[in-house]
Amino acid sequence: MALIYDEPSHTFNEYLLIPGYTSADCVPANVSLKTPLVKFKKGEEPAISLNIPLVSAVMQAVSNDTLGIALAKEGGLSFIFGSQSIESQANMVRRVKNHKAGFVISDSNLHPDNTLADVLELRKKTGHSTMAVTDDGSPNGKLLGIVTSRDYRLSRTARDTKVSEFMTPFDQLIVGTENTTLPEANDLIWDNKLNQLPIVDKDQHLLYIIFRKDYDSNKENPLELLDDNSKRYMVGAGINTRDYAERVPALVEAGVDVLTIDSSEGYTEWQKITLDWIREHYGDSVKVGAGNVVDAEGFRFLADAGADFVKVGIGGGSICITREQKGIGRGQATAVIEVAKARDEYYKETGIYVPICSDGGIVYDYHMTLALAMGADFIMLGRYFARFDESPSNRVRIGGNYMKEYWGEGSARARNWQRYDMGGDSKLSFEEGVDSYVPYAGSLKDNVQLSLSKIRSTMCNCGVMNIKDLQENARLTLVSATSIVEGGAHDVTLRNSDLNSNHM
Ligand code: IMP
Repeated sequence: MALIYDEPSHTFNEYLLIPGYTSADCVPANVSLKTPLVKFKKGEEPAISLNIPLVSAVMQAVSNDTLGIALAKEGGLSFIFGSQSIESQANMVRRVKNHKAGFVISDSNLHPDNTLADVLELRKKTGHSTMAVTDDGSPNGKLLGIVTSRDYRLSRTARDTKVSEFMTPFDQLIVGTENTTLPEANDLIWDNKLNQLPIVDKDQHLLYIIFRKDYDSNKENPLELLDDNSKRYMVGAGINTRDYAERVPALVEAGVDVLTIDSSEGYTEWQKITLDWIREHYGDSVKVGAGNVVDAEGFRFLADAGADFVKVGIGGGSICITREQKGIGRGQATAVIEVAKARDEYYKETGIYVPICSDGGIVYDYHMTLALAMGADFIMLGRYFARFDESPSNRVRIGGNYMKEYWGEGSARARNWQRYDMGGDSKLSFEEGVDSYVPYAGSLKDNVQLSLSKIRSTMCNCGVMNIKDLQENARLTLVSATSIVEGGAHDVTLRNSDLNSNHM
């Protein structure tokens, strides 16, 4: 007879944390959210840690290079989506790795023969008033001058005047060189009262522009996630169990810091074969996570197969219809609790700590704290990040509200058949995800900082100042259906109904 679990499986919404003793030094400013990303041996440090426990989902609507840069600035990490060509995924990785904080690749560029009319057109298109004039009109051509709104007077300058006649020419510009650091560039900007500083190579080719207006944001990222060698932002990428022999080398060559096998169900021989291939070709130098699983058996299988971390979660994602379509999955809280126990046992037995990632199903900010308290080392989110300016999808106006598009990897729109592959044809034969909208929420930075301040504050309520202490000392209680109603505002008439919704 089949094994039937006695207990139902639970989700985050059914739990609450019970406060612990809070000492006077236990304040949000003293809370560290640093957490291991990849496995490590007892007594050793993990090769990669995150400064905040958040990673973005391996999805077309979520993780591109723009979001990757924004999240690394805050201390987390994106896994660039794999449901695109190897070349374009590797290029996204390359763009994150080549991004130097504060060093902007010029996006508004002119040819010297362009006219004032072209300047106005470009300004309308990009919204930027500073433009580089290069010999070929490209972002990295030979720099001949700069045009800003101070170089022309709309009432006096004819629209067909050539840019070369009114630009500030190169010999009157103050510029930085390849070796100029950000602090040096900022000094040059301040000492010379500049609004921008072009950076050129020894042949006068434009590399970047540094803007005075970015000065504050350049200094504001104390938790940014940088690699050890070149101090570039860290970035991850998703791979599948089909084309890894081509995809992995291209991503490694592009400078990726960590990979994850992206699959709806990870307790399979395909994952072991993929991990074996990576170990055979790269040893431990390439870090790779695996998943997703929802029980101890699946965790142990992937840990034994050499995964650097294990992702947990089937069917709980906001756009996911796997449970409806196939009847597989498990309540996310129960899955995390069981896998966390298995991780701790594995650590006791082998001395190897394999971090686990709770993937999907976060609806409220406090669910993040619950996931960590239940034993997750970090959390993967899709819907949460899809709402921000930096996600790749379109912002649209619906019924007077701004929304962002958000679609599942198993939807007909993404056609990521490799993620749902159980060894059949190279196609998606039925959908496991939907195409949807989520409310637009503004910048990643503002939202992530708000979520983290809630996590830190709750951790102080529990009397803990780091994630390990939270995992070891938190006390959680299941709540009844009636007390869930009591958890929101109740028995009052709200003056502002927006406040009723604490949804992120
Ligand atoms: P969310 O944060 O609740 O939106 O969940 C995001 C997670 O859902 C991703 O990290 C994936 O694990 C999972 N996912 C992505 N696309 C699909 C899909 O089409 N069907 C089912 N699960 C998906």
